[in-house]
Amino acid sequence: MTRMTTHKIRLLKEKGKRLVMLTAYDAPTASILSECGVDMILVGDSVGNSLLGYESTIPVTLDDVIHHCAAVSRAHPDSLIIGDMPFMSYKVSEQQALQNCARMLQQGGAEAVKIEGAGRVTDIVRSVVDAGIPVMGHIGLTPQSIFQVGGYRVQGRTAELAGTLVEQAKSLEDAGAFSLVIELVPSETAKMITEAIKIPTIGIGAGPYCDGQVLVLWDMLGLFEDFKPKFVKRYASIREVIKNAVKEYSDEVRKGTFPDADHSFEMAEEETGRLYGRNKPSP
Ligand code: KIV
Repeated sequence: MTRMTTHKIRLLKEKGKRLVMLTAYDAPTASILSECGVDMILVGDSVGNSLLGYESTIPVTLDDVIHHCAAVSRAHPDSLIIGDMPFMSYKVSEQQALQNCARMLQQGGAEAVKIEGAGRVTDIVRSVVDAGIPVMGHIGLTPQSIFQVGGYRVQGRTAELAGTLVEQAKSLEDAGAFSLVIELVPSETAKMITEAIKIPTIGIGAGPYCDGQVLVLWDMLGLFEDFKPKFVKRYASIREVIKNAVKEYSDEVRKGTFPDADHSFEMAEEETGRLYGRNKPSP
């Protein structure tokens, strides 16, 4: 795959190709996703739940996302790298948004940013795009507003609410967003939004009619077993794979069968002789 760009992402919708996006927070994972031809890597603020042990994305800081985004960018993936702007890193003022989005590109190595919300956020998206920074929008359930929304609930369930989301999508397209995440809405609502705008929609819990899909990598790989939202499909049980490997290692260490000769270094015989004199210990 050649390097993905925001321009190519838009063209892929025109050609009717579906887009693949996954999250990554580190260099080795980013290189695996790139080798698999994933179109976009999102360094999501989901790093808070996925890696940092937080219960929501609210505590995640700009420095946290930049730190992980820089690790992803050091893998030089062909996938487009999108840095997720965390809670309150872009809503205080236009100046704050511009400075922080610039940091995501300069220090995090991102090639685009993702910004949650519509309404007054739309003006911020317009300023960031005007400054030359590509923006992916995010509507439907916006996890950074979880305390206001009142939980991880499906949004846009009525005809009126679906209409509001369509208007939000159009306004973000008009503000210059190059694509749009739609989270946790009925399939019909996502279909209506996708048909109403020219920029690609990327769904998560939004049914099959979006132009592309995104999942949090650790959810689809099965790293967490406590909770699985309905929209997550598990493609692997990585937790089991890790547990089996750790158990086998622990057994071998306790039995003394690891490390064996294949995984140890030996001194040359004459040096062993010099080391022990005549009393070379038996193996
Ligand atoms: O932070 C994230 O991973 C996200 C996706 C769920 C879209 O915002």
